[in-house]
Amino acid sequence: MTGERRRTTIRDLLEMKQRREPIVAITAYDFLFARIVDESGVDLVLVGDSLGQVFAGYDSTLPVTIDDMIYHARAVRRGVKHAFLVVDMPFMSFQVSPEETLRNAGRLLKESGAEAVKLEGGDEETSRHVRTLVRAGIPVLGHIGLTPQSVHVLGGYRVQGRDEVAAERLHEEAGRLEAAGAFGVVLELVPAALAAEITSIVSIPTIGIGAGVNVDGQVLVLPDALGLNDQFSPRFLRRFAELGTAAREGVRAYAEAVRTRTFPDAEHSFE
Ligand code: KIV
Repeated sequence: MTGERRRTTIRDLLEMKQRREPIVAITAYDFLFARIVDESGVDLVLVGDSLGQVFAGYDSTLPVTIDDMIYHARAVRRGVKHAFLVVDMPFMSFQVSPEETLRNAGRLLKESGAEAVKLEGGDEETSRHVRTLVRAGIPVLGHIGLTPQSVHVLGGYRVQGRDEVAAERLHEEAGRLEAAGAFGVVLELVPAALAAEITSIVSIPTIGIGAGVNVDGQVLVLPDALGLNDQFSPRFLRRFAELGTAAREGVRAYAEAVRTRTFPDAEHSFE
């Protein structure tokens, strides 16, 4: 990518949907990886609350706080110069009241410099919160299907929308989020045919994860995609690198060099 690439905007993402050009999205949680993904030309970077699992080692996203999100989003902001930057609203930061939702989303944007927030759910109440944020000038990316913050209600991380009633509910949620002014919607763990149908009906971009190929874009959790989180291999995931293996080999080589006193050698020492 050249330095001439300008910042991606919501308008660019909408136009990509219209041109049927796939939107490339990926998560990032720190400065160095943010710079790598931005320089690799992705269109959208998400500071996902998945950082609860892949950065902090919790077994769900529920413990993640607004302050955690701001800390990581600020680091990512420093590395992202061109992609559209979205930050997740963590569990209980948008469920209590419209006022609190607005205050928290405002903090996320003001204190991190991200361009938009993402929040999970598409019921009527969540859509009202989305409307409130959009009216206040805060772009919102919706997220339906498997919504990890509701893992205990959903009874696990499983594919959503498999039966007719559940599929209809997802259709309604996507339409509601669109009507509320969301600029796009993540479809997570949704049968491919249903995701394709929703994509053809709504005018906003759909970004899939485990939702098949006929959506407007794809998102993956970066450590999963790069093989750093190598104990996680769900069916929808393809690993595009094996950084976990490379990192282990590197650390072992370093340990060996220290133990055999072959590092540092003359080249890496000062006279
Ligand atoms: O938190 C996250 O990383 C996400 C993506 C999986 C879409 O919500």
